[in-house]
Amino acid sequence: MELRLTSDEVITLKEKEVIYSALKRSGIYLTASCGGKGTCGKCKVKIIKGSCNVISYGKLTQKERESNIVLACQAIPEGDILIEIPKESRLAIGDKIAIARTKDLVHYLKSYGVDINPAVKRLYLELPPPTIDDNISDLERLKRSLNEKGLKDMRFSYGFVSTMADTLRIANWNVELTYIRGDDTRYEAIFLSPIDTCNRRFGLAVDIGTTTVVVYLANLLTGEIIDIGSTYNSQMRYGDDVITRIVHATESNGLDELRDAVVSDINTIVDSLMARHSIQSCEIDAATISGNTTMSHIFWGLNPGSIREEPYIPTLNRFPEWRGGTARLSINPQSPVYTVPCVASYVGGDIVAGVLASKMHRNSEIALFMDIGTNGEIAIGNNEWLMTAACSMGPCFEGSGIRCGMRATSGAIESVKIDPHTYEPSISVISGGHPMGICGSGMIDAISEMFLTGLIDQKGKLVKAKTERIREGEDGLEFVLYSDLTHHKDIVLTEVDIENIIRAKAALYAGIKTLLTEVGLTTDAIEKVYIAGGFGNYINIKKAIILGMLLDMPEERFVFMGNTSITGAYLCLMSEELRREAEDIASKMTYIELSVYRSFMDEYMSALFLPHTDMSQFPTVT
Ligand code: FES
Repeated sequence: MELRLTSDEVITLKEKEVIYSALKRSGIYLTASCGGKGTCGKCKVKIIKGSCNVISYGKLTQKERESNIVLACQAIPEGDILIEIPKESRLAIGDKIAIARTKDLVHYLKSYGVDINPAVKRLYLELPPPTIDDNISDLERLKRSLNEKGLKDMRFSYGFVSTMADTLRIANWNVELTYIRGDDTRYEAIFLSPIDTCNRRFGLAVDIGTTTVVVYLANLLTGEIIDIGSTYNSQMRYGDDVITRIVHATESNGLDELRDAVVSDINTIVDSLMARHSIQSCEIDAATISGNTTMSHIFWGLNPGSIREEPYIPTLNRFPEWRGGTARLSINPQSPVYTVPCVASYVGGDIVAGVLASKMHRNSEIALFMDIGTNGEIAIGNNEWLMTAACSMGPCFEGSGIRCGMRATSGAIESVKIDPHTYEPSISVISGGHPMGICGSGMIDAISEMFLTGLIDQKGKLVKAKTERIREGEDGLEFVLYSDLTHHKDIVLTEVDIENIIRAKAALYAGIKTLLTEVGLTTDAIEKVYIAGGFGNYINIKKAIILGMLLDMPEERFVFMGNTSITGAYLCLMSEELRREAEDIASKMTYIELSVYRSFMDEYMSALFLPHTDMSQFPTVT
C-alpha cells in the first residue's frame, strides 16, 4: 500500500499504520500538540483520493469532515491513498525567525568574559608509523605522542581501544583525537578519526520541555547557530504534565515508551538538520541536554517514580557524562552527552540553565527568575544565595490544551488589541500573513484586553450581550479573534481556554508570592525580574500584570529572555567554564516544596480572578 502526497513524495505504508506515523517515519512532521492522541485536532490532512478507516474525528467540524479532512493520527488508509497536507499542519523545522533570535548568542557568551571553549576537544596527531626498531604497541605509541603534547594520564575505554588499530592504519597514522576532561578531572579519549573524514565539528544544544522539544545545531568552533528545529514532545500522548508521565512510566510500565517518544522527537529533528546541511553523524562531537528533573530522568531511561512520592527524591541530580549511544541519539555513539544538573525533583536543569542565562547568580541585586512553561519554575536570589520552587501550570502558554493554541512560530497571533467601543480586535502575526493560531503572548494580550473592555468578567466569563463576536461554540461560549472566510477557519478563544489560562497564571502568581513570603521579602526588594518561556519575540509586561500573572511592579524592572533553557544548554555546550558555573548554581540553590505550604493553596484560590481577589496587590490595574 502506498501513501502519496500532492507534493509528490511516496511512502510505503505498514499494516494498520495511521497516516501520522507513516509520515513521521519518512521525516515529514505534523503539528501534534497531543502527541497523536486525537485530542488536539492539529494534525489535519485532506484525503484527495482513496479512503481511510477513521478511528475518531476528534475536534473536526462537520464542514471539515465533509471536505474529506481527517486527523492524520486517527486515520488508517484502506489502500493506496493520496493526501494533501495543509501548511498549518506542517511542523516547521529551521524556523527563520527562531534562527534570527540567536544571531547574538556568540556575543552574549563572550559577555560572560569567556571564549568559545567546548569541554569536548580535538587534537591533531601525526604518529610515526611503527618499524622494527620502533615497535611499541599502538596504544603506547598514542600515549607517547600525547605525553609530548602535555596530555598525560589519559583514560582509554574498551570501545576506544577496540577500534583504534584499524583507524590508525586507515588514516596512515595521521589522526584527530577527540577527548574530554572526565568528572575526576582526568582526560578521557573519546574517539579517533582520520583527518579527512568527520573533520567538521558540530554540537547540539537540546531543551527537553514537558510540552516542546527544541534543538540548536551549532558550530563548535565558531559558536554560530547553524539551524534550529522544534516540535511538540510526543510524550504528550501519555499525559500533559510530569505527574501523568511519571504515573505512565511506573504504573503502566511505560518508561520505555516515554523514552522512545522523546528520543525519537530529538532524532527526527537532528536527522532533518543533518540532511539539510549535509552533516554526518560522526561530525556531531557533543550534545547538551537541559530539561526538568522528570524529563532528564526519562531521557536517560531512569525510573522517575520516586519523584512523585513523598519525600520527592530523584534517582540523581548530577548526571554522569554518558555517551550518544547510551542516549540512543543519532549522533556519534561515542560523543559525550552532558545533562545540565538538576536541583531537586521539581527544579531541574532547565532552571539551572535559565539562571545561568540570566546572570542573576553573578550580581548583588536581588532578582526573581521565572520560567513559564508547563511547569512554572521560580528562583529568587543573587550572587550569595538562591532559593527555588516550582508549580504546575499546564501546557496552555505553550499552545497545547487551547482550542486554537500553537507555539510561538510563524503564523501565530502574538499580540492583540481590542477596540473598547466596537470590540473589534486587531492582531499581529509572527512573520505576517494569515494567522494559524494563537501563542502564549497572544493569549496574555487577548485576555487582558477582553478584561479591560468588559468582554469578560473578573472570573473570566464571557459577557454575551457585548458583541456578536461572542457566540455559542462546540465547547460553550467563545470569542472570535479572527475570521478566515476563505478557509472556513476562525481563530477563537473559548471560555474553557480562558479558564485554563487563569488557572495557569494563578499557579504562577501563588508560587511567586509563597516563595517571597518564605524568604521574608516583599515585592519592593526585587530589583529585577527575568521572564523566560517559549513566548517568541516578546511578552507584554503590562498586560501580564493586568492578567494577574506578574507582580504589579514598575515595567522597567522586567526583562524578557525567551527560552533560557536552550540558551543555558548552548552556553554549557560552548564553554567549559560556563558548564562549571552551571554546576555551582545547582549546588547553591535551596529548593522549597510548595505543596507542603498551606499558604500556597490559599494564594492560588485568591489568584483565580482577574487580576486578583485582593485588588490592593494590583494598584496600577484599575
Ligand atoms: Fe492528531 Fe493531536 S489530534 S496529533
